[in-house]
Amino acid sequence: MSKNFTSTLCLAADAASLVVAVSVLCQGGLVAFPTETVYGLGADATNPHAVAGIYAAKERPQFNPLIAHVASLEAAQEQGVFNAAAIKLAHAFWPGPLTLVLKAAPSCTVSDLARSGLETLALRVPNHPLALALLAQCSFPMVAPSANRSGRISPTAAQHVLEDLDDRIDAVLDGGVCAVGVESTIISCVSETPRLLRAGGIGLEEIERVLGFALEAATAPASGITAPGQLASHYAPRAAVRLNALQAQPDELLLGFGADAPENTALNLSSSGDLQEAAANLFAFMRELDRRGTLRLAVMPIPRHGLGLAINDRLERAAAPRE
Ligand code: TXA
Ligand code: MG
Repeated sequence: MSKNFTSTLCLAADAASLVVAVSVLCQGGLVAFPTETVYGLGADATNPHAVAGIYAAKERPQFNPLIAHVASLEAAQEQGVFNAAAIKLAHAFWPGPLTLVLKAAPSCTVSDLARSGLETLALRVPNHPLALALLAQCSFPMVAPSANRSGRISPTAAQHVLEDLDDRIDAVLDGGVCAVGVESTIISCVSETPRLLRAGGIGLEEIERVLGFALEAATAPASGITAPGQLASHYAPRAAVRLNALQAQPDELLLGFGADAPENTALNLSSSGDLQEAAANLFAFMRELDRRGTLRLAVMPIPRHGLGLAINDRLERAAAPRE
């Protein structure tokens, strides 16, 4: 089934679809599914052939390590070595938009290819009923990068997945629109002091409150050491992006934020200035402005706290010079 994508099945969110999805995954196929952050492109993490299929479908330039998704902390503990901080964070935020990078456990079954040959691995328990039902029915962890072609915007609806990957994957489970809208926050707990690798769906402040101390800062993405997938240019719409704009130039469409957005704003991420609403709208609005055919996109400033960190991170990647 995984070798012959004549057309991608679009599956409704019901029990019969789950049976089909599980069967495809068990045979080494690729199934996109909703999580609370973005849609993931799922495959059996223990099957290197299936994992290779993900890189092929996404046209990923490198074999970046992938996040292994599991149904529970117990399942995660078979795969990774949890220190005290990791346990604390998992209890506080799982299921939810937090990924932990840990030393691989001796019983780890995630394939070397999915881990890029690293001694560590990334683990997450997603907070979405369909994702959890799927994971509960699979006897293996599931790797799932965002279900977009490499370098494109992450999908927050089944339709976005089809725009990028139709005929390249076996199926997509349609669970509606993703509530969080930006990818998970990634924290490394490989050494004693946890470190932030990617800003995401859980604000830094919340994480530091649980830990009781400030996190070590993220390594600059350009250095590419700790999170090899973090290319500077990423999450790119087709249009060129200009940040911190208060007005649109005549040839630009303006992506607004807050109550002060000018009248000619094309779309407003949140007219009430709510960062959660803005995160949930971010990727779908960038796609929509691309669809309107603009070559230039201007984006209003977004505050740098809470989910604003992740939103600014994604916008900076969208605005970075293209590789
Ligand atoms: O919200 C999310 O995290 C979504 C949904 C589908 O779960 N997934 C996602 O996966 O964003 P992806 O593949 O687009 O991003 C995974 C990130 C990459 O930046 C990768 O380099 C990093 O996780 N990563 C994975 N394993 C790692 C490891 N062992 N050490 C450091 N970074 C790692
Ligand atoms: Mg991605």
